[in-house]
Order: sequence, then structure tokens, then C-alpha cells
Amino acid sequence: KTQLIQDAIDVLEGNVQKGGFTIPSKGLYPFQWKWDSGFIALGFGHYDMDKALREMSTLLDSQWGNGFIPHIVFHTKTDTYFPGEDFHQSELHPQSSKKYRSTGMTQPPVLGFVLERLYQMSKEKAQVLEFIDAHIDKVYDNHAYFYNNRDRDRDGLIYIYHNWESGTDNSPIWDVVWETMDPPHYEFERKDTTHVDASQRPTKREYDHYLHIIEMAKAVNYNDQAIAEQSPFLVQDPLFNAMLVRSNEALISLYELIGRSLDKQEQLEQWSQKTTKAMNIKLFDEALGAYIHYDLRNDKPIAALTSSSFTPLFAGVPSSERALQMAQVLTQRFGGKDRYLCASFDPEDERFNPKKYWRGPIWINVNWLLYHGLKRYGMEALSAQVRSDSLHLIEQFGFYEYFDPRKINGEKTNAYGGGNFSWTAALTIDLLS
Ligand code: DGY
Repeated sequence: KTQLIQDAIDVLEGNVQKGGFTIPSKGLYPFQWKWDSGFIALGFGHYDMDKALREMSTLLDSQWGNGFIPHIVFHTKTDTYFPGEDFHQSELHPQSSKKYRSTGMTQPPVLGFVLERLYQMSKEKAQVLEFIDAHIDKVYDNHAYFYNNRDRDRDGLIYIYHNWESGTDNSPIWDVVWETMDPPHYEFERKDTTHVDASQRPTKREYDHYLHIIEMAKAVNYNDQAIAEQSPFLVQDPLFNAMLVRSNEALISLYELIGRSLDKQEQLEQWSQKTTKAMNIKLFDEALGAYIHYDLRNDKPIAALTSSSFTPLFAGVPSSERALQMAQVLTQRFGGKDRYLCASFDPEDERFNPKKYWRGPIWINVNWLLYHGLKRYGMEALSAQVRSDSLHLIEQFGFYEYFDPRKINGEKTNAYGGGNFSWTAALTIDLLS
């Protein structure tokens, strides 16, 4: 094993908790997060498959009666995180988990393709197949939840009702939504800024908006239909929908492998076709040359480029012609000799901030999606660049949460947010294996 892989394993092992889950980072994120857990399992899978499957089964165990899987599962009591379980009150929903308290919002549906990749990397195929057979229906039910409850216009495009559901928490994309809202100035004590420099985190006023949407959802007991009618934030996100399409595809191949549920395979195929078609019609911006977000509440496209704009490559959504166009935009606008790939927000937009969370920094999980996405379309050189930029930053600065996309000579650190960050470590293992 190389030293980097061993260091990554040490980071992951240091973040494993009693109770079968792994925290994203000490201090800052003390619980289990949905999409973090998926990427974390991919790291474990290379050296400890039992742990990978445990991470997945613990998360799936938090599933609600309606198929919903929450974005945070509050396994432990701690007052070092805000907003915690007492703020979210997910138990207001009649079908919420009786076993765990959680948030009442979700995160991108990565679990399908994580299961498929765990199977592919496993040396004991029978063990993983048995696990898949026992758990795959839960992932299917989660997809059914999205199509039955989050597809307002029945066109296959799933909406999110909170910026935290996107995973790209404080992206400048949401600024146009915040302009339509005027929430109260809540009184609360931030905890994140006691762990990480405030200049690298969202502002107090942004948090007012985040909390306000949760108050709205609580007031209707997290009822999906009421949320769709009332939430000031209702957005169709290209990353979220791309993860769903890719996970649909993975579930189909896994059902084929275990040889059952033809009806579910057909349903997944129909969902995927519908979502793919709608993404290509509604979310592709010809002028920008990539996929964008759509503000469903205010019924207008949000014409700006983010790293999410390129993630449909991972799901095979664009035609090869469009994929080429996207690669050009990625190279010319996000790349170049002065930058590492891939900034989370358009470096040529005035709102770009290279140090602030999702307003510019590079995130390794999105790079991992882009690496595989570009490979899928045979763009070997560009995909190799995304991979080597990622590994270079990690080798240089450590397993941080996010990285500065600018190549700045003489800087001591270009890395920000939480240190010893689990998915950065997990995906390093995967990229090197
Ligand atoms: C945070 O606390 O910033 C989390 O990312 C929310 O999911």
C-alpha cells in the first residue's frame, strides 16, 4: 500500500463511531450524513467490506415508512452541532423513523451506484450479493418516494425543498431564491464557526433563510404536498437528478444480477428515461453549454455554472455532442493553467469565492463524479486531469473538506473547512485502487 492510502485509512478509522456509522469530520459534523455515508462506504469497501456494508445498513435502517431517507441521522446526543434534532423535529411526520431522530430533509440519492460499485470491487462476491438481495428494495423504495412525492409536474424531474438537500449548501445558485424571501432574524448560536473560520462558512443571514424553510416544513409536519405548495425554496437540481438516474441504472443491473423483480427493473427504466429526457429539455442551457438549476417556485431557470452542471456526465444523460461541448466549457472556463479542476462555482462569475464552502472551492466527491463521468464518454485526458488535480491537492495539503482552485505559489495552505474529512479520505482510496 502507498503511504497516502495508509494515511487515508487512518483518517477513516479515526472517524468510525460505535453504532455502525462514520462521522464526516470530528467537531464540525458529529452524526451520520446520507451522501457522505455512501462515499465513505466506497473507501471501506477496498479494505474492509464488513464496515462498508455496516455503514450502508445503518443508514438504510433510518428509512421512514414512506421510503424517505433523511440527510442527517442523529445517532448521538451532543450540543456541538446546530441545528440539531430538537430543532428539526422530524417526528412531526407521521411516518418518520421510530428508531432514530433525524432531519426531515434528504440528500442526493447516491446509494444505488454505491451498492453497484461495492459489488464490483468486492473479492467475496457472494457476501455482497447476499447483502444486496436483503437491502436493494429499500433503495428502490427511496427512489419510489422521490418519483411519487417530489415530481410535482410528473415530468420526471425531482425537486428539492431546501438548499441542504442539494449537498451544495451555500452555492451562489441559491442567492436568487434568497432574494425572494425575507425571513426573520432568528436568534441562535452557530456551532460550525467555533470549529472552522467564519470566512469559510455561510453567513448568519444565510442561516436565517435555511432555518426559515425548516420552520415552514415543521409547520406542515413535513407533509410533502404542503411543502410543494408552500416552500419558498423549490428547485430542480442537475446533480440531484443525475444521481437519481445513475442510481436507477445501477439498481437495474443489480436486480438483473440477483435475478428478480422484473417489474421493478421496468419501472426504474421508465423513470430513468423520463428524467433523462426532462433534464435534456429543461435543464440544459445551450448558451452556457452545460446543465443548470431550475427555480420551480418562481418558474425560471437559474442561468449559472457550478460543478453540479457537469455531473450529468456521470449518469450518461447528455448526448456525446453535448458532452464534448461540456468538456470544452470545463476546460476553458473552469480549467486553464492557473486553476485546478473543478471549482464548485464559475470562476469567471463575480460571486466566485475560492475559500468559501460551495461558492468556489473544489470538493473531492464532485471531482470523483466528474472523473468517472468524463471517462464514461471516453475523454481520457480530461478525466485524468481531474483525478491528478484531486490527488495533488490532497497530497499537498491533507484530507481536507475543500480546496482552493487557484494555483497560488508559496501559499502554506490552500485547504479549508474540516480536516481529516472522511469522504476525501475514502475517495482517495478509491481513486488509487
Ligand atoms: C452543515 O451543517 O453545513 C451541513 O453540511 C448541513 O448538511
